[in-house]
Amino acid sequence: MDHFIYHDGILHAEKVPIPGIVAQVGTPFYVYSTATLERHFYLFDDALKEFDHLVCYAMKAASNQAIIKTLAALGAGMDVVSGGEYQRAISAGVPTDRIIFSGVGKTRAEMEMIVRGGVRQVNIESEAEMLILDEIAQANSEKVPVAIRVNPDVDAKTHSKIATGKSENKFGIPISKARDVYAMAGKLKGLDVIGIDVHIGSQVTDLEPFALAYKKVAELTKILRADGHDIRRLDLGGGLGIPYSRSNGPLPLPKDYGEMIGREVGHLGCELEIEPGRLIAGNAGLLVSSVIYIKQGEERKFLILDAAMNDLVRPAMYDAHHEIIPVKEPNDCADSVIFDVVGPVCETGDTFARECTLTSLKDGDLVAFRSAGAYGAVMASEYNSRPLIPEVLVKDDQFAIIRPRPTLEELINRDKLPPWL
Ligand code: LLP
Repeated sequence: MDHFIYHDGILHAEKVPIPGIVAQVGTPFYVYSTATLERHFYLFDDALKEFDHLVCYAMKAASNQAIIKTLAALGAGMDVVSGGEYQRAISAGVPTDRIIFSGVGKTRAEMEMIVRGGVRQVNIESEAEMLILDEIAQANSEKVPVAIRVNPDVDAKTHSKIATGKSENKFGIPISKARDVYAMAGKLKGLDVIGIDVHIGSQVTDLEPFALAYKKVAELTKILRADGHDIRRLDLGGGLGIPYSRSNGPLPLPKDYGEMIGREVGHLGCELEIEPGRLIAGNAGLLVSSVIYIKQGEERKFLILDAAMNDLVRPAMYDAHHEIIPVKEPNDCADSVIFDVVGPVCETGDTFARECTLTSLKDGDLVAFRSAGAYGAVMASEYNSRPLIPEVLVKDDQFAIIRPRPTLEELINRDKLPPWL
């Protein structure tokens, strides 16, 4: 459920009519709903309420500080994967004991930053990284809480580019080697080995792969405890998928996910962490765009929008589907037209949808891409010298620009000419 609904024939974000935002910021832009962000956070928080737990929002999904602050105010922790995300979380006022530092290739500089700044836990991804973290921790007279990310060799049954839990993926240490790596970690004076971390992939729409992975984590917990490790925290990763189209059928809900977690690992008495990103932010955001032209090709009709693949790369990159709806609600007898919906960027990959049935639209009309809140703005680029598009946050009947549209001068003046030119 989200808070983007038609009222009086016009699409609203909560109580704010989308055309009202367009009048102030122009198109294209991203708009997020505070109520939807909050609702999704609470769905997870409630799902784990029987356990000592922390829901750590995976900031990579949408990392504007206004979004982080909204969630942190509800008690969310943050899962960060770079020094940049760590700094963003700190700037948004997230306490360091609620920040988990993940990521498959943490640099020495990033680890120094978090050891000095403070962190809830570092999720270790390799023996090499573990040794460097230990060295940095000892040099700073710190003992850093760590979980080791294990690769459970489970097929998450999702798009190959976002599956992470198979042995051929670059993530974590093979679960078969876990005992040895934990034994090694236990001897390092700069590390406090507190838990196990696992994350099998993103947009996972079936609970079974999670259950398989968590079963393996439960077995490992018992083995490691018998080896003398005080395993008291399990980080179960993120990845629960969202419906991108109405035909997606019923997907497992956070409540179902929480029950499954309870069944698989609830008996271990560990503090539980989860790292959802997409399910919190995905359906909390729209990309709003205008029609520039309608063009009749030989065989197809093209709807050319002012948003492009640089603004929302998911269709080009993962063949992802985002539902496209008109901002003006179509009435029951409106004609339907089949369009290929495209952006103005100079490649055929800049296609959002093929053979998409929409109502009849004309130049200047507004459309919205649904489910664009996660992995939308954060993956945008300035390809074709198109400035990053603004982000807007709505709360009830108010809205605020949380990232303005840069001017072309700002974009161009970032280039510095060498002295010989
Ligand atoms: N934790 C870790 C360690 C992760 O790598 C990820 C996502 C998450 C949590 C959050 O997963 P979520 O709940 O959002 O599924 N750009 C792609 C998605 C990449 C996901 C990367 N890792 C897309 O647009 O589909």
